[in-house]
Amino acid sequence: MLEELEATYAQALDELKDVRDSAALKEWERRYLGKKGAITLAARSTGQLPPEARADFGKRVNTIKNELSAAFAEREEAVRQHELARMLEEGEIDVTLPGRPVALGGLHPSTQTLRRIAAIWAEMGFQVYSSPDVETDDYNFTLLNIPPHHPARDMWDTFHTTTPGVLLRTHTSPGQIRAMHELGAGGTQPVRVILPGMCYRYEQISARSEIQFNQVEGLAVGRNIRLTDLKGTIAEFARRLFGPEKRLRFRGSYFPFTEPSMEVDVDCILCGGKGCPVCKYTGWLEIAGCGMVHPVVLENGGYDPTEWSGFAFGLGPERITMQMHGIQDIRYFWANDLRFLEQF
Ligand code: DAH
Repeated sequence: MLEELEATYAQALDELKDVRDSAALKEWERRYLGKKGAITLAARSTGQLPPEARADFGKRVNTIKNELSAAFAEREEAVRQHELARMLEEGEIDVTLPGRPVALGGLHPSTQTLRRIAAIWAEMGFQVYSSPDVETDDYNFTLLNIPPHHPARDMWDTFHTTTPGVLLRTHTSPGQIRAMHELGAGGTQPVRVILPGMCYRYEQISARSEIQFNQVEGLAVGRNIRLTDLKGTIAEFARRLFGPEKRLRFRGSYFPFTEPSMEVDVDCILCGGKGCPVCKYTGWLEIAGCGMVHPVVLENGGYDPTEWSGFAFGLGPERITMQMHGIQDIRYFWANDLRFLEQF
């Protein structure tokens, strides 16, 4: 049996020398080292030998098995290199073929509008100031002249967190207080900022309103800032954003943090002013609330309201995007439907 084993060993080594590709390599492995391979079977037959011959035979089989495994591994590497070289040489990768197009992502329509808006305000001397989405009740309401239990709180249905007094901001207005504190230097410096960001309201979702949406807050504090400055600045912004043709209207309104307060409408391009569901059949679409900063709010921001004054506004960029692109339903914005998103 030992002679037979030695012959098989020699034959295996001999055959391995002629193995040129991975198919032949596999076949060789199956024949000698596989579960039913010659060497494996030989090892298994050790028990049939007379007891005194078993130890030597067993040792030899193991040695042969190790040697063949090593030889196999070496050959395998050589074959791999060889096949790779051949593949490159034969040009299985045709570098002259035109590339496959890669689909590029794009900016969300709201992001595009936010950037347009920020760029226009930057041209007009307003810097961007960031404030947090998660706010305290104090900043979101009380410091904005809306004390606890004030009926005006009903204007903002609120998502509360499980921490008492902590909520998702219902508007970007709390950032006004933060900006005055940080940039106003104790009521000694003027401030001109915009504050873009996401807001959250616990509301019925419809074609006109979502539970989350962006706002761009604006705040200017200085000496001798007047209502005419507010109207002129908003009108100039609208001219730069929509072009000179767009009609604009200021309507008296109420907000606790401004006095007087107004809302800004543009004529609805969705229906050309004729009336449609998006403009509630008025022909006008509200794009902003604004007003002169209430003395209490100025005081809460660290300013002496007898010397300082200011205006503020809150723009709705989704409403503006709907105007610019003729989008009929605000729910498209966060539905993540590529058929919508890919149009921008
Ligand atoms: N924060 C208001 C809202 O979400 C919008 C607003 C109105 C902002 C008047 C202002 C402002 O800064 O002066 O309904």
